Amino acid sequence: MKLKHYVLISLALIISGVSAQKPGKKEAFIDSLMNKMTLEEKIGQLTLFTSGWTTTGPSLKDDYKKDVISGRCGNIFNAHTVEYNRELQEMAVNESRLGIPLMFGYDVIHGYKTIFPIPLAEACSWDTEIIEKSARLAAKEATAAGLNWTFNPMVDISRDPRWGRVAEGAGEDPYLASLIAQAKVRGYQQDNLFSSQTMAACMKHFAAYGAPEAGRDYNTVNMSERRLRELFLPPFKAAVDEGVATVMTAFNELNGIPATGNEFLLKKILREEWDFDGMVVTDYTSINEMVPHGYARDEQHAGELALNAGVDMDMQGAVYYNHLKNSLEEGKVRMENINQSVRNVLSLKYDLGLFDDPYKYLDEEKEEEIVLSDELKKHALVSARESIVLLKNEKHKGSKLLPVKETPEKIALIGPLAHNRKDMTGTWWASADTASIVTVKGGLEKQYPDAKITTVFGCSTKGTGREGFDEAITAAENADLVIMAIGENRLQSGEAASRSDIDLPGQQKALLKAVHKTGKPIISVVMAGRPLTITWMDENIPAIIYAWHLGTRTGDVIADVISGEYNPSGKLVMTFPRNTGQIPIYYNAKNTGRPFDEDNKYTSKYLDVANEPLYPFGYGLSYSEFEYANLKLDKKQLDLGSEIHVSVEVENTGEYTGQEVVQLYLRDEVGSVTRPVKELKGFEKISLKPGEQRTVHFTIDPEDLKFWNADMKYTAEDGRFKVFVGTNSANVLESKFEYVAQ
Ligand code: BGC
Repeated sequence: MKLKHYVLISLALIISGVSAQKPGKKEAFIDSLMNKMTLEEKIGQLTLFTSGWTTTGPSLKDDYKKDVISGRCGNIFNAHTVEYNRELQEMAVNESRLGIPLMFGYDVIHGYKTIFPIPLAEACSWDTEIIEKSARLAAKEATAAGLNWTFNPMVDISRDPRWGRVAEGAGEDPYLASLIAQAKVRGYQQDNLFSSQTMAACMKHFAAYGAPEAGRDYNTVNMSERRLRELFLPPFKAAVDEGVATVMTAFNELNGIPATGNEFLLKKILREEWDFDGMVVTDYTSINEMVPHGYARDEQHAGELALNAGVDMDMQGAVYYNHLKNSLEEGKVRMENINQSVRNVLSLKYDLGLFDDPYKYLDEEKEEEIVLSDELKKHALVSARESIVLLKNEKHKGSKLLPVKETPEKIALIGPLAHNRKDMTGTWWASADTASIVTVKGGLEKQYPDAKITTVFGCSTKGTGREGFDEAITAAENADLVIMAIGENRLQSGEAASRSDIDLPGQQKALLKAVHKTGKPIISVVMAGRPLTITWMDENIPAIIYAWHLGTRTGDVIADVISGEYNPSGKLVMTFPRNTGQIPIYYNAKNTGRPFDEDNKYTSKYLDVANEPLYPFGYGLSYSEFEYANLKLDKKQLDLGSEIHVSVEVENTGEYTGQEVVQLYLRDEVGSVTRPVKELKGFEKISLKPGEQRTVHFTIDPEDLKFWNADMKYTAEDGRFKVFVGTNSANVLESKFEYVAQ
């Protein structure tokens, strides 16, 4: 092994009494290393370039390998596989002057090669253990392929399904999203970055990226500090509390200041209030973008604004690379700040164990053994099962269509997603192994080997072509059961994939209508990266399964749900609007001074659509039925330092064993600032056999009542509170209590 320079540094450090990777020695190790570094080498550690394999933006540097050798690029992203990364690591270790190892980043968002459900789908499981395990296994697979840093979790709250990136987040609720953010950080990092099976996590996009005007990606964000703190910051804070190693700044401006040059976000909140001591990286060229934002005169100025605001590493923009030296010479930035950023980067490399063994993530045998292993594929099935949401299951000619227990003689499987591997990955397919993806057709054929399944494409997910309609109609006419596999392709959600009309794209709604005319029983399986406005479908199709984009095991899981082998249990984490005009629509809304009253014209409503969503937050059906009764509070007054115990009886009155997410919401009736009509404060996922009843318990303490009050203090105020417990945010039992601090 050609470890010349690396060995030299290590020897020098050992001789000077500094040994890498010994607890307590980190500071001394980094000091000693930094003493040897030139300014260019320091700036190199603050530089992250893409390998040119995959890009999510412009590729600015073709000669990144040269920069690795000269020490001017200390980190690479979008490079993976042991073979490829080993070659790069050898360059850094053997050919650069100081032999500082590279860190390798990648968007391992819902899997590396084995693909788990998109994050929005997985959030619908309300199961933080499963989510944590997905992150842990994704880390295991990705680290075996040479990676040690993932740009995840994406913890952006959003109330706007036009914004394509809702696919990557955990929905609209800050409480649930915070728990999920923590589960992911635990999964990737497991309190032990040093392990060769864990990787550094990166919470993103800091901050408020999920609130672009009109839902258009990268667009302007403007909101009050209260809204920011109440709604958008909690998942970030939760991830910091869980020890997330890195933070990515957002593309957007927030109240006139781009997030990448935003001292309020990066200094006051992140470092001062939250005490974050990790590393801050930009989003893809977001330093450069402060020029078109109209915040920086030119790139050099943008770099100064970023560094001075506390940005450590420049992703792909080459701004620090090209200009930071000049900025220092001109006195626009301080060496002390550059040093601090370098320290943050080296400290992460140290924690990852790269100074101990730069090749620890680069073991071909491990890659062979772990990537696409059964352990991952099995979990892809478990996690996808829990992600599916059953939206509707009503009778067609006297009986419910789902589950399909008896093998139908003839099934017509219709739609662009019926036998489609590629689009099943969803938005961040990373290095997905498309060949191993089970299609809906594949799953149904395995599930119903004796059925005659006719698969028809029907129409594309885009465009205007209707040539396939006749074939689809004929197939439906000849079948006993029609299954429609429709929705969005993988490019119709995610980054740079905002849509102004979120109905079924292309001609799919027309296709569905045409097939519906045959009068045949239809089950709609909708696969998409966002809530779609499926109002017509809801009014006309008896059974609707919302499957999102489920990844590697898609077909198996959809067949499990259709056949009843698995009883669906997912609950929506985003409100489904009836039409695009209702957006933004969310459950934790304010009451207004004129809440809707049908007898009074001058109340808050639309003339052409109801106020209620199509499906509320927390909604999702099961093949079982759950009845709620006897909501009880053990006392009617809560004092400071005490708790209220809430209990409710839940009974499975259906015929199938099933899981239910029991949800607890609170409403603060009067506040020094107005409070939402409901806020999620607890939930429990339980499993009940037919006829089984369980008492579910929750505890409320004053901490649950806190909010940012009129003086921007995070506190609980005395007064009346409502408690709601139920199967979703709209269907609840209700009780109340009073909070009296003293
Ligand atoms: C996205 C980030 C991503 C980065 C690196 C950007 O375009 O906004 O979420 O991590 O690219 O691929």
